[in-house]
Amino acid sequence: MLSFFEKYESGWMPFNIDRYKYFLDTQFLGKNLYYRETTNSTMDDARSILDSDQNIASGFICVAGEQLSGRGRLGRSWISNPDSGLYSTFYIKTVIGENAPLITIAAALAVAEAVKLTTNVDLNFKWPNDVMYEEKKVSGILAEAYTDSNDLKILLGIGINREWAEDIPSEIARIAISLSEITGFAPSTEKLLANLTNALEPKILAISQSPESIVHEWSDKLTTIGREITLNTINGSIDGRATGVNETGDLILLLDDGQYRNISAGDVVLR
Ligand code: BTN
Repeated sequence: MLSFFEKYESGWMPFNIDRYKYFLDTQFLGKNLYYRETTNSTMDDARSILDSDQNIASGFICVAGEQLSGRGRLGRSWISNPDSGLYSTFYIKTVIGENAPLITIAAALAVAEAVKLTTNVDLNFKWPNDVMYEEKKVSGILAEAYTDSNDLKILLGIGINREWAEDIPSEIARIAISLSEITGFAPSTEKLLANLTNALEPKILAISQSPESIVHEWSDKLTTIGREITLNTINGSIDGRATGVNETGDLILLLDDGQYRNISAGDVVLR
């Protein structure tokens, strides 16, 4: 790990909260932000804050410059080198209801909107909640939820590949891409995070007010639809054609034996 002075001399600057607040334009989301230069995972940081104050207001964000044990979906790790990605976890408290699964879809839409605003790059979506540039992953989303009487406490982790060093493992470079590779420059973390927060707040409100608009906007750019896929789930693999999504974002799969199946979790591999 570089010392503070080595980082300073190489042009690396820690997160500037005033700069982030300058771009922030929300009612409740992201007003409180906890930044750590190095942490294990912003998911754990957010969980500790929540554990220490059960009544903390919805909307705080944990951000880190580097994660030592960044985690992804399905028990995978998330490479989190210093100052190369945006590593954030949002705390969102909501009532328990059937629309809660839409939160990861709302997050994917917000990532695409924020990236468009910050870099003018158009992104698309891969089921269940990857945000892609053409066929490569730019951003991943991880939701962890806790129930507490009538409340659902959601920790929404969002990682965006902002800028990568050349030593990124080749197996990652084959399937993922950073914004600086696409545009030739890396957007500032502060501006990208503020734009993401600005985009996410109205999407969260839309989950209860017009859930169908969230699913509709997302499925319009869901490139998985119409493809022949193998779906890896915890119960094994299934082959079929992705024909659409239902109102909660489940994938509708036409199996090779002619039957339809709705799938709520898994990993898509194109055939
Ligand atoms: C995935 O696509 O598998 C989800 C990746 C989620 C990564 C983010 S980075 C910020 C937050 N902290 C973590 O440890 N993971 C999420």
